[in-house]
Amino acid sequence: MQLNGKKIILGITGSIAAYKAAFLTRLLIKEGAAVKVVMTPLAKEFITPVTIATLSRNTVLSDFFSYDDGSWNSHVDLGIWADLFLIAPASANTMAKMAHGVCDNLLLTTYLSCRCPVMLAPAMDLDMFSHPATVRNQEILLNRGNIIIEPSCGELASGLSGKGRMEEPAGILQKVISFFAGGGTEADTEKYAALRGKQILVTAGPTHEAVDPVRYIGNQSSGKMGYSIAVELANRGAGVILVTGPVPTELVHSSIRVIKVKSADEMYRECIKWFPECEACVMTAAVADYRPVVTENKKIKRGEGTYTIKMQPTTDILKELGKMKKKGQVLTGFALETDNEKVNAEKKLHNKNLDFIVLNSLQEEGAGFHSDTNKISIINSDGSAIDYEMKTKPEVAVDIVNHLSELIK
Ligand code: CTP
Repeated sequence: MQLNGKKIILGITGSIAAYKAAFLTRLLIKEGAAVKVVMTPLAKEFITPVTIATLSRNTVLSDFFSYDDGSWNSHVDLGIWADLFLIAPASANTMAKMAHGVCDNLLLTTYLSCRCPVMLAPAMDLDMFSHPATVRNQEILLNRGNIIIEPSCGELASGLSGKGRMEEPAGILQKVISFFAGGGTEADTEKYAALRGKQILVTAGPTHEAVDPVRYIGNQSSGKMGYSIAVELANRGAGVILVTGPVPTELVHSSIRVIKVKSADEMYRECIKWFPECEACVMTAAVADYRPVVTENKKIKRGEGTYTIKMQPTTDILKELGKMKKKGQVLTGFALETDNEKVNAEKKLHNKNLDFIVLNSLQEEGAGFHSDTNKISIINSDGSAIDYEMKTKPEVAVDIVNHLSELIK
């Protein structure tokens, strides 16, 4: 119930994707949100208010007053009530009217009166989406601080294929959850805007250093922290390059390019290839510090005595990125320490030329590799530190991404 007590106005406009608003309503309710729905007149041609009213457990609002008894549907009260105005799907027509202050239906008057943040999930044909008029309207809305949930690429109702498909309800729900996890206030919309259109490199998971064709030396990293950071960045409109070591999780997100690697050396090569094109890098991977000097090409046979593997150091990827770092790029990594934690983490921060470092404590129960929760401190290059509570990894990702968004230009 991650949206417990949150009050959301869901605006539905006239688009084929309006049917997905039924699933979205259900998901919001299941997470504990109170949902009031406003539909444009055309939206009712695509999905019936009966369906939406049943799922939202509230009467659907569409007209300025009731034709039966003349009672007034106050868009002002509605706007004051809400913590978030989410418009999904948002048609090209509604976006154009919002951009220019036209208010010829209840959804639009609610937009003009509401005091809460506004999130839109556009849905339209690819040519409409890329038309200069729509691009301009989108810019106007973004500059006003409205949050736009990027549509994805794929098959469209017109039969054409391209960008314009509304984000799936589960994806929209995730964005709403992240938004509230980050505070959910007007000020947070700035943190969202800071990352829009930025390219960010994230590394995750362990590395496997081959001993022979079937064996490797690895570690227990699950990749969860890095994957949560990648999703959080992508949810805020950043393009993410996720270089990941071997983990069981599959991640599919239209804004995340996943590059799978096994060894520290492969990870190093991908990182130095992508970092120059990125505005920031978050290095969460648990990179092996040593690899076998020799990788046997045949499976090692069992013998009588002990077996020794001679190891040599791997490249410190983060340190190399620190040397490559250009003005304006933000570089951050993690430190896993067992003793003298803050002092050691700060040493790593300076040694690797980082802008901040995330200290992961192994002392805390529920924090670390296999767990779904984590307890971190963020240490800045001036030595100042922020200690956070124990949180779930997606919540920790919100804190880290918030911190990053304040440093990124
Ligand atoms: N790191 C890296 N390349 C390596 C080793 C570590 O890029 N070969 C990165 C990690 O991804 C992490 C940071 O460096 O972001 C710190 O990793 P950590 O294991 O805590 O420290 P090390 O530098 O390996 O030092 P030590 O193991 O001695 O604590």
